[in-house]
Amino acid sequence: MKTDRKARIGVVGSGRGQSMMDYCVKYGNAELVAICDNYPPALERARRKYGDAIAYYDDFETFLTHDMDAVVLANFANKHAPFAIRCMESGKNVLSEVLPVQSMQEAVQLVETVERTGLLYAYGENCCFMPSARKMRDAYRAGRLGTFEYGEGEYMHNCESGWDALTYGDPNHWRNTMSAFYYCTHSMGPMIHVSGLRPVRVTGFEAPYNARMRRMGAKGAPFGVEIVTLENGALVKNLQGVGPSKDSTWFCVYGSKGRMESARADDATRQTVRTLYENLDENEGDNKSEPILADTDDAITAKFGASGHGGADDCMMYNFVQRLLGDEQADVIDVYEALDMYLPGHFAYRSVLAGGMPMEIPNLRDPAERDKWRNDATCTDPAAGENALPSYSKGNPDIPQSTYDALRQKMEARHMYDE
Ligand SMILES: NC(=O)c1ccc[n+]([C@@H]2O[C@H](COP(=O)([O-])OP(=O)(O)OC[C@H]3O[C@@H](n4cnc5c(N)ncnc54)[C@H](O)[C@@H]3O)[C@@H](O)[C@H]2O)c1
Repeated sequence: MKTDRKARIGVVGSGRGQSMMDYCVKYGNAELVAICDNYPPALERARRKYGDAIAYYDDFETFLTHDMDAVVLANFANKHAPFAIRCMESGKNVLSEVLPVQSMQEAVQLVETVERTGLLYAYGENCCFMPSARKMRDAYRAGRLGTFEYGEGEYMHNCESGWDALTYGDPNHWRNTMSAFYYCTHSMGPMIHVSGLRPVRVTGFEAPYNARMRRMGAKGAPFGVEIVTLENGALVKNLQGVGPSKDSTWFCVYGSKGRMESARADDATRQTVRTLYENLDENEGDNKSEPILADTDDAITAKFGASGHGGADDCMMYNFVQRLLGDEQADVIDVYEALDMYLPGHFAYRSVLAGGMPMEIPNLRDPAERDKWRNDATCTDPAAGENALPSYSKGNPDIPQSTYDALRQKMEARHMYDE
């Protein structure tokens, strides 16, 4: 679609949020109008970078009074739902960074706020916009893979070297208290977005606590695995964590007409999520095809290739802004799909806590299902008080304050807010 109008965007959180701010500065369809961060050094860094034409706020409620079309939420991952609800109650459309919610109570409130206000809520699962995941979706939707039978997603990220900068030595930073299962959408997201199928059941398997997580001051398991059943009976294995020894971002789908997968981390191409292997039969039952390196270098990849996460960050923002401007074809992830990506992890942790029992995954599209969950505030955020679960199923590990003090000192030595 063609329009000369620019969407006016405000961003909360100027860490990761800088990616979306940079988008607005670079691309013609958006304008960065306001930035909010309640940590003064972060706000000052943003002011130096983005200049005085933009309004700066240290208070979220005051920020919400600013005239803008949409708010990008890049604040703490476990606070997105209450912030998204306040935005929509104030008449603002929302793009939420991961995660969408941290409890079922928040999930019900978020769904009902989207329905009541009729505003655009989009979930910023950027991995769905990586070239390999986009191409898989196109192929699946065109029928080239046949029926979805099995998928695997991995988002393994050894975060140890940067953990001080990510958590500032705060024992209660969300990254230190979150269950390994909650941060599941980077890998589960593409499985849902490719297949369009709803997850219905999950069993969780939690890796044992390790020395790396102890050194990081992180209280959850280093990684977790979910085995998920989709509504057509297909299976997905999803693996994610911040404490493995090596990184892997990888997606694989077996359809009835073959397999597509992105490149493994150690693949010779070294292009991982920008690379896609296809091994597809023309007709179901052929089983004759050879794998080929599919071309992901299309116009979209070329347009956004320079941006973060294999071009996914700008591609996601572009689609969100286009939808805001009225393009109904723009690819956005709505609140129901966001929950289909997140709830497998949420219920996998419940499964682990129940000794490995499979758990049904609720469908909050159905208003009748909501009452069962309306008052369920359980999550691993210590601020949840009596509803707080341990971050690790066998109980929170004991981590001395000296670990956090050392991480804080390491973070301060980076002078990362002096840029
Ligand atoms: N999709 C991705 O690839 C990706 C990558 C990194 C981070 N993230 C997500 O981005 C979000 C932010 O992560 P981060 O790495 O920047 O770290 P973070 O969560 O520690 O930082 C969030 C920023 O928000 C600010 N903030 C927190 N509460 C606020 C409030 N009440 N009012 C105003 N500002 C507030 C903080 O001061 C900080 O600058 C998280 O949700 C995370 O999951 C996504």
